[in-house]
Amino acid sequence: HKFDVCVVGSCNVDLISYVNRTPKIGETIEGNKFEKGFGGKGANQCVQAAKLDGKVAMIGKLGDDVFGQDYLENLKKLGVNTDHVLVTKEAATGVAPIIVDKEGRNSIIVILGANLLLNEDDIQKAEDVIRQSKVVVCQLEIRQETVAKTFEIARKHSVLTILNPAPMSEKLDRNLLRMADVICPNQTEAELLCDRSVETIEDAKDACRKLLELGSRIAIITMGEQGAVILDESGQCEHVKIEKCSSVCDSTGAGDSFVGTLALLMASEKKLALKEQVKRACRVASQSVEKKGTQTSYPLKDELRFNLFE
Ligand code: RIB
Ligand code: NA
Repeated sequence: HKFDVCVVGSCNVDLISYVNRTPKIGETIEGNKFEKGFGGKGANQCVQAAKLDGKVAMIGKLGDDVFGQDYLENLKKLGVNTDHVLVTKEAATGVAPIIVDKEGRNSIIVILGANLLLNEDDIQKAEDVIRQSKVVVCQLEIRQETVAKTFEIARKHSVLTILNPAPMSEKLDRNLLRMADVICPNQTEAELLCDRSVETIEDAKDACRKLLELGSRIAIITMGEQGAVILDESGQCEHVKIEKCSSVCDSTGAGDSFVGTLALLMASEKKLALKEQVKRACRVASQSVEKKGTQTSYPLKDELRFNLFE
């Protein structure tokens, strides 16, 4: 295999405003700081895996503009294979205005632009990269048809697939759940997928069972401070607990840090139990919330306070 992880997904430029509190409708407030950064759920996951020394490839689409050029450079600098990061003149590079409050909580708007022009044809042309990867990951900031095509090609070559259904839409084609080996939603996404509330660990266990009924092989629901709940074909639902985060500065992109790390561990630490993989991915993600920004906050392998690999 040439790559541990291949991500087919979004690249957005994040425009982050740090504020004391989120403004009300019609209100103007003064912010404390503004920062521009590289984001997008797809690229975030890819970059986290790269920062942990994974061999990774990104498949996505940028606009033919300054944001797009900067973005491509950013990916290259991080050692990401960008042979299939395409540039279009038909739309602008995706952007995400983000508000982060005093507690480190965020609100995000995504204007997907060029991301939505990544099509089945582009994926077909990237078949070789997908075939040469151990794990392929998709999210929902690109067209569902593009995700379906990716999973179809991955399955043809027996490549493990992970679907992170974020942001979750009511229009989700449920067939995608059958096409992915691993489904990895957060609490609110799991609620929408399973059409039930997911507050307690018991709720999450039920939701995991439902997700397997809907067609995936492995379900992992991330539960914020409560850790995660997992279920695989063994039928044994487990709660993965985590230590409390020391200081929350900015939680933007923490979920992506988790998914990117998990994908890398599934690719390179196959012998590690799922529970342990999830636990380690939680620890990496919780290190990311201590710093500002998305990709810039992701820890490098050398910065980890524990051993990620055996
Ligand atoms: O998950 C965080 C990401 O969501 C941000 O980087 C933003 O670009 C949006 O895609
Ligand atoms: Na962060």
